[in-house]
Amino acid sequence: MELLSPVTDATALSGRILRMIEAGHTGAARPLLAALRRLVPPSPALAQMAARLALDEGRMELAQDELDRAIALDPGHGGLLRYRAELRRLSGDLSGALQDAAEAVLQEPDDARGKALLGTLLTLLGATADAVRCLRDALRGAPADAAIYEALAQAELADGDPVAAEATLAAGMRALPGRISLRNAAILLAVRRGHFPAALAEAEAARAMGLIDACLLGLQAHALSSLGRHAEASLVYAEALKLGPDDPYVRHLVAAAGLVADEGRAHAEYVRTVFDGYADRFEPHLIALGYRVPGLIRRAVQRYLPPSPGATLDLGCGSGLLAVALSDLGCAPLVGVDLSPRMLAQAAAKGLYGELHEADLERLLAEDERQWQLILAGDVLCYFGALEGVLRAVRARLAHGGCFVFTAEVLAAETLATEAHAADAPPARGWALGRAGRYAHRPDYIRRAAAGAGLLLRDLSHETLRNEQESPVAGMLVVLERPRDDH
Ligand SMILES: C[S@@+](CC[C@H](N)C(=O)[O-])C[C@H]1O[C@@H](n2cnc3c(N)ncnc32)[C@H](O)[C@@H]1O
Repeated sequence: MELLSPVTDATALSGRILRMIEAGHTGAARPLLAALRRLVPPSPALAQMAARLALDEGRMELAQDELDRAIALDPGHGGLLRYRAELRRLSGDLSGALQDAAEAVLQEPDDARGKALLGTLLTLLGATADAVRCLRDALRGAPADAAIYEALAQAELADGDPVAAEATLAAGMRALPGRISLRNAAILLAVRRGHFPAALAEAEAARAMGLIDACLLGLQAHALSSLGRHAEASLVYAEALKLGPDDPYVRHLVAAAGLVADEGRAHAEYVRTVFDGYADRFEPHLIALGYRVPGLIRRAVQRYLPPSPGATLDLGCGSGLLAVALSDLGCAPLVGVDLSPRMLAQAAAKGLYGELHEADLERLLAEDERQWQLILAGDVLCYFGALEGVLRAVRARLAHGGCFVFTAEVLAAETLATEAHAADAPPARGWALGRAGRYAHRPDYIRRAAAGAGLLLRDLSHETLRNEQESPVAGMLVVLERPRDDH
C-alpha cells in the first residue's frame, strides 16, 4: 500500500490515483481525486479518471454524470465519446452507445478502436452487414489487434457467413500466433459448427505451442466428449478444472463428466454461454433433429386447458418456438423469460410475446408476483436436477386450477445404476446429470416432487423429444395442476 504523503505535483498525483484505482484501492483514491480537482482545471483526462473510479466503485450513474459533464464542455472529444459509449453499452443502453460511438468515429475517423466499438455495437443491434464493413475497416487500421479479429469474426458469423468468420480467425492467428483468445475463438467456432475433429486438431496445435488455459481445455474436452472419447474428455476436464476452478462453464461440464459433484442445476453463466453461442443455429438445428417439444406442448394445452386459457408464462422461452406453436390458442398475454440475450432477440423478432425478460427463471418466479393460468417449460427443466424448488415456485405463481406443462428427459433406471454420474450421487436421487450437460429425471421422482409441491398430476406420458446421433431422446410430457381449493 502506498504512503499517503502530501503530493502537490498534479502529474505525480494523477499517477498515484491511477495506480490506486488499478490496485483496487478505490476508497483511498477518492480523496486524492478531490485534491487533484482542487489543483487542476477540468480536462478530458481528469473526467475519464473520475469516470473510471466511479465505475470501479460500482457507481454507474456517477460515472455517466462525470462523462456527461466533460462532454458538455468538449463535445467533439472522441476519447470521451468512446468511453461513454462503452459505459452505455455496459449499462444496456445500446442505442445511446451507438450514437456516441458513431459520433466518436466522425470526430476521429482514423481511430481504429472507435470503429471497432461501433462495429461491435452494430453486431449487437443486428445490423450485421454494416458491422462487418465497419470492423473490416477497423482491422485495416489496427492489423495487430486481436480483439478486432474476434469482433469481426462474431459479426461475420452473425451475418450468416461462418466461412468468413473462420478465415478471419485464421488470419488473426497468423498475425498473432501467441494470442490464446484467438485460438479459443477458432476452437469455439468449430465446436459451434459441429466440426469436432477440426476443433480438436486446433486445440492440440495450440497446446503444442504451449498455449493453454481453462477455456481451451474445456473446449478440447467438449470436442473429445462429442466424438464419444469420454475417458480422454474426463482427463482434460480435470486439467481444465485445475486452471479454472471457478469457471462455471468448465465446472458444469466437469460435473457432467462425473468428476465432481454437480450443484443440482446448471449455472446461469453456463446456460447463457451455451445458448448465446447456439442462438444462430438453434432453430435449423432443432428442426434437423426432429424437435417435437412445441407440438407436444400444444397438444397438452388443447387437451387440458379451456379455450383461450389466458395469462401464460413461458419459462426458458428461447427463440420463441412455443409462442409460434400456441399462437392461435388464446394464450395471452404471453410473457417469456430466458437467460440468453441472443435467444431472446430471436424471440422478440417473432413479435408474439407481450413481454420478454432476461432473467433466471427461478428469480422471475420469486420476484414477479403475477398469477398465471398456464406456465410452460419446453426443454428447460433439463437444466435443473432437483425440481422441488422450481415446482414449489411454479405452484405459488399458478392461478387456482391453472396448469404447468413441461417436458423432461427420462432417466432410465439402468442408466442410474450403470453410469458414472456425479461422484456422490445417491442412487435413489431420481435425477442425474448426463455427459452432454443436461439433467434427466425418473418419472417416479417427478410424481413425488409434484405431490410434494402441492400440484396434481394430470398427465405424464412418455414421448420422444428429438433425435440425437440418430437415436430418439426419450422424454416425458407432464401436466400438473394447482388445485382449485388450496391456499
Ligand atoms: C433448449 S432451449 C428451449 C427453448 C424453448 N422453450 C423451446 O422449446 O424451443 C432451452 C432454453 O432455456 C433457457 N434456460 C435454461 N435454464 C434457464 C434458467 N435457469 N432461466 C432462464 N432460462 C433458462 C436457455 O437459455 C434456452 O434458451
